[in-house]
Amino acid sequence: MSEVVHTPRVFSGIQPSGGLTLGNYLGAIKRFVEMQENGIETVYCMVDLHAITVWQDPAALRRQTRELAAGYIAAGLDPHKSILFNQSQVAEHAQLGWIFNCVARMGWMNRMTQFKDKAGKDREKVSVGLFSYPTLMAADILLYHATHVPVGEDQKQHIELTRDIAAKFNHDYGVDFFPMTEPVIEGAGTRVMSLRDGSKKMSKSDPSDASRINMTDDADAIAKKIRKAKSDADALPSEAAGLKDRPEARNLVNIYAGLADMSVEQVLADVGGRQFSEFKPMLAEMAVSKLSPISSEMARLMQAPDEIDAVLRAGADRARAIAAPILEKTYEIVGMVR
Ligand code: TYM
Repeated sequence: MSEVVHTPRVFSGIQPSGGLTLGNYLGAIKRFVEMQENGIETVYCMVDLHAITVWQDPAALRRQTRELAAGYIAAGLDPHKSILFNQSQVAEHAQLGWIFNCVARMGWMNRMTQFKDKAGKDREKVSVGLFSYPTLMAADILLYHATHVPVGEDQKQHIELTRDIAAKFNHDYGVDFFPMTEPVIEGAGTRVMSLRDGSKKMSKSDPSDASRINMTDDADAIAKKIRKAKSDADALPSEAAGLKDRPEARNLVNIYAGLADMSVEQVLADVGGRQFSEFKPMLAEMAVSKLSPISSEMARLMQAPDEIDAVLRAGADRARAIAAPILEKTYEIVGMVR
């Protein structure tokens, strides 16, 4: 069978399950904006159906979805250039998700480390949705025949599963329908760690607020969190190799590099030899200068929730126009009478 060439299309999503963190910004949103500016078709989602795999208070979910939309726009995503919408407005995501539940194998799903981390010792008590979460994520991506997915390092395994699902579907039905999606995991911010523990990912669900920088933190809060961030007693090295076995130092240098759009090597060429007492104020200043314009724009946008809702509605219409024919074709391939 001839190989179908898929036109480049970018898809990615973020859960509105809490506030946005610096990890989401450096690992995902900043990349989203760069890809939008590259002239490729870009589709960015607020994955509210994924968010309810763990309990969400309904009013908080609505607010967080709008706040995430405000974060997307404030960081530079333009609703005229990118398609911005929330997942539940395009029913095709859940519909294709079901098909993929019937393609993915239990053995594959049992290997997902995010499920193991999130379920912990409570495996019997978590929702079935938390377990089948990655099949819905595969549906998000493949519903648009997306070729590229910008994500942080922690999502790599889910993209690999997406490729496995696409390959099995194509093989089982003897078609070349779904593309082999590539993860785009680039830059210094693909794995931003907790400010309190360099071995743990910075996360919106960490009980300690001091462990993360929230996109809504003001300048004082950002400066204080960086001042208190865990570091070590040595001076900064001049080369990246010197960060080995220094997870906290590496994290702070990575964050600086991500914010400043520099490589780790460039940052160390400038700051090598300095103590943290000197470097931390530099980092705080860099963070405030990059993040405060975004947080003040987010606050302004949150004053007009109707406008945000209108953007999401229009985005959902555009998303559905791409998704509906792909779902229809999938049903036809599978043998559903239409
Ligand atoms: P979520 O909501 O946990 O995170 C959203 C994005 O932010 C990245 N990220 C980080 N990057 C670097 N350092 C960190 N500390 C950090 N924390 C989060 C994540 O890698 C992600 O790119 N399953 C996804 C949401 C999703 C999705 C999709 C993504 C659903 N459908 C389809 C891409 C395509 C998730 O839970 O992301």
